[in-house]
Amino acid sequence: MNPDLDLVVVGGCGHVGLPLAMSFADVGCRVGIYDTDEDKINHVRRGQMPFRERGADELLLKTLASGRLELSNRAEIVERTTVVVMVIGTPIDEFMNPSTRVFEKVVDELGPRLRPHSLVVLRSTVYPGTTAFVKRRFQQRTADIEVAFCPERIAEGYALEEIRTLPQIIGADDDAAFDRASALFEKFDVEIIRTTSEEAELAKLLTNTWRYMKFAIANQFFQIVHRAGQDHSRVLHAIRHNYPRAADLPAPGFAAGPCLLKDVMQLAAFTPDHFPMGHSAMLVNEGLPAYVIDMIDHRQSLEGRTVGILGNRAEGIGRADRRRPAQDVPADRR
Ligand SMILES: NC(=O)c1ccc[n+]([C@@H]2O[C@H](COP(=O)([O-])OP(=O)(O)OC[C@H]3O[C@@H](n4cnc5c(N)ncnc54)[C@H](O)[C@@H]3O)[C@@H](O)[C@H]2O)c1
Repeated sequence: MNPDLDLVVVGGCGHVGLPLAMSFADVGCRVGIYDTDEDKINHVRRGQMPFRERGADELLLKTLASGRLELSNRAEIVERTTVVVMVIGTPIDEFMNPSTRVFEKVVDELGPRLRPHSLVVLRSTVYPGTTAFVKRRFQQRTADIEVAFCPERIAEGYALEEIRTLPQIIGADDDAAFDRASALFEKFDVEIIRTTSEEAELAKLLTNTWRYMKFAIANQFFQIVHRAGQDHSRVLHAIRHNYPRAADLPAPGFAAGPCLLKDVMQLAAFTPDHFPMGHSAMLVNEGLPAYVIDMIDHRQSLEGRTVGILGNRAEGIGRADRRRPAQDVPADRR
């Protein structure tokens, strides 16, 4: 059988995989989605997005109607292509260490099904060295598999726009893998940045860590000002107003969602000194809900009560979720 799909996205019903698969279909590619979650597959097949994403409801219906998007919960679908993009989740284990088992499992499942001369693009955020590991493991079976690491850098909710505007880092350790991976992403007409695979893995982890640490310093500043009995929102306004050098100081808030914390953990596990600044940032950000409870308890006893913190604006605590702090966001996206 000749390959009849231009690419298959593994984990293609996820927050990263689905917008990517639809975007490739929208620029004319025949795209296969492989996802182990049958419920999600059925939802998407019926034209229903499993999560919210700007512009995705319309694009899903359009790409399904075009016949260029095919879905399956069976790994056999990768036999119909020579380009596989992997965007499965990359969890940390119960000891807060990155788990490589998910990758070992999926590589062993897909390895026997890959066609000769295939390109595998890793797009999940991975522990440094994973691309080289995956390449070795695939090449034990088939010598001419190319592997590149092309990290996803979208913010959820803005994926469809950002896939087509953000520069794409292509981490490749040889020209053949680079040429094929960049030809894939050039379909979106975006700028390409070439690195080695490990440079790209580090670039992605450092990007998320940088963001997490910006939230941490914002949250620490909030606590300092609040403990001094002053109004943090007035102090923040005074710092940022018409002062470009402090314009990127985020508002305080919960550094929510699993990605940023997980990626700081991965970096801490990677460095011999375990990244003390990252640990301090975790103490501040992950301790913020407890700080908010203390603030409330100080005013009115919470003895015997259960408190839910929903992340909305209160007491000068703003929403600084993992996507964008308010001041990074253009006015129409706040
Ligand atoms: N969500 C984001 O905003 C974002 C941004 C950049 C990078 N990332 C990274 O991208 C990766 C994926 O994140 P996500 O948010 O899309 O996760 P997700 O949980 O939304 O999606 C992962 C999908 O993979 C499927 N899956 C899991 N194991 C599979 C397997 N063996 N074979 C086929 N399908 C499988 C799941 O059913 C799920 O639909 C993670 O490494 C994450 O850190 C996420």
